[in-house]
Amino acid sequence: MTPKKAKSPKQVLIRFGDMRVGTDSNRSKRTPTVRKAKGAIEPADRFKAPAGRPRVETGGSAVADLGAPTAARPTLAVQAALDRIDLSVDLAPARGAPDHGGLVLDNPILVASGTFGYGVEYGEVVDVQRIGAICCKGTTLRPRAGNPPPRVTETPGGMLNAIGLQNPGVDAVIEKYGPIWQGWKVPVIVNVAGESIEDYVEVARRLDGVPGVAGIELNISCPNVGKGGLQFAIDRDAARAVTAAVRRATDLPLLVKLSPNVTDVRPIAKAIEEAGADAICAINTLSGLAVSADRTRAFLGNTYGGLSGPAIKPVALRIVYEVAQVVSIPIVAIGGVTNLDDVLDFLACGAVAVQVGTAIFADPELPVRLGDELRADCLRRGLDSYRSLIGTALPKRTGAPSAKGAEYRP
Ligand SMILES: Cc1cc2nc3c(=O)[nH]c(=O)nc-3n(C[C@H](O)[C@H](O)[C@H](O)COP(=O)(O)O)c2cc1C
Repeated sequence: MTPKKAKSPKQVLIRFGDMRVGTDSNRSKRTPTVRKAKGAIEPADRFKAPAGRPRVETGGSAVADLGAPTAARPTLAVQAALDRIDLSVDLAPARGAPDHGGLVLDNPILVASGTFGYGVEYGEVVDVQRIGAICCKGTTLRPRAGNPPPRVTETPGGMLNAIGLQNPGVDAVIEKYGPIWQGWKVPVIVNVAGESIEDYVEVARRLDGVPGVAGIELNISCPNVGKGGLQFAIDRDAARAVTAAVRRATDLPLLVKLSPNVTDVRPIAKAIEEAGADAICAINTLSGLAVSADRTRAFLGNTYGGLSGPAIKPVALRIVYEVAQVVSIPIVAIGGVTNLDDVLDFLACGAVAVQVGTAIFADPELPVRLGDELRADCLRRGLDSYRSLIGTALPKRTGAPSAKGAEYRP
């Protein structure tokens, strides 16, 4: 799995509104682009689909080709069988009362914040309406210019990014994208960031009731100015406080995103659940560092960056596995998803849905394809829903049936 060299150090491939994910800095020979990440996020050979098209048996009579981009369309009978499979999931079941409605997705494959812009950027390339939900770029109270370049670099099996939450601010996001999202079938979850509890609360308050905003994902991996720069996500009390404050400020479905950069994530996850979160997302990036080519300094303009991509999948799996055993609210897994096996692994560890992040830079259609592949996989297994795939790898419980695990019904 040797990453290919970028043809030009000036390549810039994907823009999210005003945000650029690549870097055009000439100051270092190591100026990777998002395309350069492709080599690093190709799945290991043992996970690659076997040669030839996957075939789907439907009760012995109908047989169809499915899954491969060039495959012939399934027969009507197979398509009808596929359509009957229930991939829907409610990420806010506790708010599922008639006056709330929860956060019901058509399928459990979401796109991760910071890797899909505001959804509109990919409209020409992907049928975004077929994605389970879109988590948009991190949104703050006021506009942010982000970190100095270089902002990204490739790593074995992933990438480091230090974009620095570049975004136009919540009011501009609401004004520019709200009317577009309102007309969409796909739910848009706004990823919210801040430096103080007041920041988070005010952003949530402004998003509350905005048509087109289906929920909030709190990115609590941000320095808490009030606590001397300590991240909310690594302090149980700060995580609890910010979740509770946002909970009071909005009726929107509330997802809170865990940081992996802690010794034991379980007490933090529990505190977030107790504070009223509807769901937990796990994980954000791992803190990392790259060194400049001449080895005189850190490579990234921000010194530190967040590691993402296949390299972090085992860490994400471990955290999902641990959190699934201590909370009863739904878990949305994030970290290194590049293929259906990754999705199935996360479901087995107790996630009810997954987000695709870094892999999108190399393969924007991946999230849509994964939904199709999960559906085809259920048909192959003779399942009418994917729910029995959830929690199968968790330790078996001896006590009363839990709200999670194999019995879990989203
Ligand atoms: C370029 C880039 C920008 C990101 N921006 C955000 C962000 O604004 N808010 C957030 O919560 N996570 C952000 N993330 C983290 C992702 O949402 C995701 O948690 C992480 O990349 C792990 O998933 P992956 O391995 O599939 O990429 C960003 C990741 C990348 C690569």
